Amino acid sequence: MRLKSSAVITGVGGYVPDNILSNSDLEKMVETNSEWIVSRTGIRERRILTDKSLATSDMATWAIKDLLNNTKVSPDEIDCVIIATSTPDHLLLSTASIVCDKADLTHAWATDVNAACSGFLYAFTMGASLVEGGRYKKVIVVGADQNSAIINYKDRNTCILFGDGAGAVLIEPTTDDVGLIDSVFKTDGKGREHLYVPAGGSKCPATPESVADRKHFIQQDGRIVFKAAINGMTDTCTAILKRNDLDILDIDWLIPHQANYRIIHAVGDHLGLPAERVKVNIDRYGNTTAATIPLCLWDFKDDFKYNDNIILTAFGAGFSWGATYLKWGKLRTA
Ligand code: COA
Repeated sequence: MRLKSSAVITGVGGYVPDNILSNSDLEKMVETNSEWIVSRTGIRERRILTDKSLATSDMATWAIKDLLNNTKVSPDEIDCVIIATSTPDHLLLSTASIVCDKADLTHAWATDVNAACSGFLYAFTMGASLVEGGRYKKVIVVGADQNSAIINYKDRNTCILFGDGAGAVLIEPTTDDVGLIDSVFKTDGKGREHLYVPAGGSKCPATPESVADRKHFIQQDGRIVFKAAINGMTDTCTAILKRNDLDILDIDWLIPHQANYRIIHAVGDHLGLPAERVKVNIDRYGNTTAATIPLCLWDFKDDFKYNDNIILTAFGAGFSWGATYLKWGKLRTA
């Protein structure tokens, strides 16, 4: 059943670094080959932020500047910014604070959300709730991650998967029958040891040993995550269809987190959705963690029509996962 909803996406922006890390580049770094990577993951290349003076906040800032340019909204009109990231510039201090300064968002309050690959989905629902509540008129939600900062480029199990990028959406109130309708979210901390960065937080602060043991990089049990991701995304998409009295063929577009083409394909298949309605850009960007879904919205926005039924779905570290149902509205144009 449709809940009272009045928050809609009115703008989209994105940023990916120019530098491309291709499968053939990776062949020179670890024992792998492009054919294996493409057939097991669907990834052909990813973007990497190579300039050491830049970080996640810079990518988030450029995504916001693109969004503001596309919508012709002035930076001082923004009430609030939520940045979903698990690669903040600093451990103490939100990346969102830095972004407010760099993007001249002088009237906004800002905070980060860390739910790994599900971060954008969670933050989007939080941002929409602020607008639905009536107190805020223009909220920006960003998914941004510089995964290259936490990847061990000697570990072929993980280094082939991840890339850097940022995507942003503007959320505003609407009186039309479009916008965010419903979300089904799940969190299960029992999954925490299958995908995480072991050191650098309060449980295991940085020491010479933690650095030598490469504990500041992503560690993952790929097979467990693979299965849990398919089941988690399929289950929450099914739950949201049921709760909103929808048939899968009522859905115009499924926008899944881009972690592995085989995961994306399996979720679409289990749901019974034709492949052409499932959006995929993993071949070009790899897994950009919280940025995958907003980067899909950015890449494919011209395909979406007013009133299209869209499901966003994600799975990530935590474990955290979920699905969000929305009706596409009208984007502000420059
Ligand atoms: N190149 C070549 N061979 C590789 C390789 C690489 N980059 N990485 C692993 N292999 C090898 C393994 O060592 C293994 O060899 P073995 O059988 O001799 O032990 C073999 O390929 C198969 O490994 P397996 O782990 O079963 O491969 P897979 O088909 O499950 O694919 C992942 C591995 C990581 C691509 C896959 O498990 C995955 O995508 N998991 C989810 C990752 C993810 O989405 N994480 C983000 C959070 S959502």
